[in-house]
Amino acid sequence: MSMEPRPLVAGNWKMNGLKTSLAETGRLSTLLKERSASCDVLICPPFTLLMELAAFFAGSAVDLGAQDCHPQKSGAHTGDISAEMLRDCGCSYVIVGHSERRADHGESSELVAQKAAAGQGEDLTTIICVGETEAERDQGKTLDVVSGQLKKSIPGTADPAKTVIAYEPVWAIGSGRTPTAGDVAEVHGMIRTRLFERFGGAGQGLRILYGGSVKPSNASELMAVTNVDGALVGGASLKADDFNGIIDAYRADAR
Ligand code: PGA
Repeated sequence: MSMEPRPLVAGNWKMNGLKTSLAETGRLSTLLKERSASCDVLICPPFTLLMELAAFFAGSAVDLGAQDCHPQKSGAHTGDISAEMLRDCGCSYVIVGHSERRADHGESSELVAQKAAAGQGEDLTTIICVGETEAERDQGKTLDVVSGQLKKSIPGTADPAKTVIAYEPVWAIGSGRTPTAGDVAEVHGMIRTRLFERFGGAGQGLRILYGGSVKPSNASELMAVTNVDGALVGGASLKADDFNGIIDAYRADAR
């Protein structure tokens, strides 16, 4: 049996999207029906659109995920959403540890690991995000920082079949700048080694996504890098045509 992971192209809408955005998802569904791709496709809208999109995507080629969850199942945590609630409204994925949550909400890797464990406890595939800041890169600390985050952010109970890693250099997010293919290969290669150390042979089957300014014009080059098994896409996931243009990296006829 091949351990090559099936790639994943995931859209992270962040704090964007109203009911009027559903027209874009309609268009995406049509585009995906017209030209199938050899990758999984995931949309992570804001919490407010999950229920509606769950109904919309039911039985389609698009999976649904959330952008965060609380480590506890329920309780007195005003404003938070639990993994059980996400499962209840039709999610199969959850993103944890995005750098914007680490920065805006002071989330530590230890908390990220608890959230990932909560997600997996509800049978959600968890996308665990890691990535260095520009200052850390300039100081030559990229591999150390990413390796350290990875170690602490993957829970002790992690199920490799439900774990996805997203490498997102903080300085590349929303900036239009990306690392070189060589730099991406170096970091993803290190992550793969750490996954082997952690999960043994199952580490080969885990998907390692690249995220940070992925767009149709650079997707093929980035997705062709060894150990890049898909993309986590922010801005370009908001427009069906752009997101579909990234998925083209996994359409044989578009290569
Ligand atoms: P971007 O965001 O594609 O807009 O750079 C990526 C992300 O933060 O997941």
